[in-house]
Amino acid sequence: MARRIFSGIQPSGSIHVGNYLGAIKNWTQLQYEYESIFCIVDLHAITVPYDPRELPERVIDLAATLIAAGIDPERATLFVQSMVPEHTELSWLLTCLTPVGMLERMTQYKEKAARQQRESVGAGLLCYPVLMAADIMLYKADLVPVGEDQIQHLELTREIVRKFNRLFGETFPEPQPHVTQAARVKALSDPTSKMSKSIPGGAVALAEEPEVIRKLVRRAVTDAGPQPAGEMSPGVKNLFLLLESFAAPDVVQKFKEDYDRGELRYVELKDAVAEAMIAGLAPIRERRAELLARREQLRELLNEGARCARRIAQETMREVRERMGLQL
Ligand code: TYM
Repeated sequence: MARRIFSGIQPSGSIHVGNYLGAIKNWTQLQYEYESIFCIVDLHAITVPYDPRELPERVIDLAATLIAAGIDPERATLFVQSMVPEHTELSWLLTCLTPVGMLERMTQYKEKAARQQRESVGAGLLCYPVLMAADIMLYKADLVPVGEDQIQHLELTREIVRKFNRLFGETFPEPQPHVTQAARVKALSDPTSKMSKSIPGGAVALAEEPEVIRKLVRRAVTDAGPQPAGEMSPGVKNLFLLLESFAAPDVVQKFKEDYDRGELRYVELKDAVAEAMIAGLAPIRERRAELLARREQLRELLNEGARCARRIAQETMREVRERMGLQL
């Protein structure tokens, strides 16, 4: 039987090069090998304060960007989470199986909660990984292509799967993570943290203007304090990762040799990274703009994706209700 992959991405503003190299680029390759389901997870995006007037536009923009980056809606199912209500239903059922202690140990929860007043931390933020488990389990996915920051959540999903199978009978496969070489792209302005749009000057949006890309890369931090002899600093390592991802192998080779000889000039490395990135992202930027000019078509495509996803989700829910004693 063809194996199935599932993955999701939040419509939380413009997606960046970290999302692209850590996840989306991998999706575009895996869609040719597996039955693929990709989800725009709007229900995850509302676990932190947000503007409801902006959310629909973000969803459409993300759909356009994903297709522009290479997701082929003829081949993969692309849909919006809230359009398939079974996600919230399964999420509640799984919430009842999940110990609070496990959720409180999640790194991302601790980080996000620390940025808010304790009284205003929503329970949704705590239960976020359970909704993620529901996403994956509804489609009985075998493989989940994600960046490194989602591995802990995936471990939790595997625990929930094991518990469900133990209590109610073998129902779900244990999903495996699938990570790329660029599973953790660092922020340009702070190479000790992962690239994320919450770090000022840290992220390059996929649809960024060339001039802004040049500026961001030129300002990238290369030396972040003393470095053990013979070890590349995190900032330079990150620039090499970006160069390897966007430039031709001979260009990478040249800079590696310069580095080994102690002759690397940061300014040259940065220029090469910026120009390779601009060239690599240009087709995505152009295609995204074309797609955004045909919004009706995007909406129809997402409706069709949801119909397709829902057929599978409903099937799984029938089985789950029966196994959990929720069927009279
Ligand atoms: P999200 O929207 O934060 O990120 C989408 C994908 O991008 C990866 N990523 C990165 N990879 C490398 N370097 C980085 N700096 C970087 N930043 C982000 C993420 O690891 C992710 O793969 N909870 C998930 C969305 C989700 C999901 C799911 C994923 C919901 N349900 C089910 C897989 C399966 C999230 O917030 O990703």
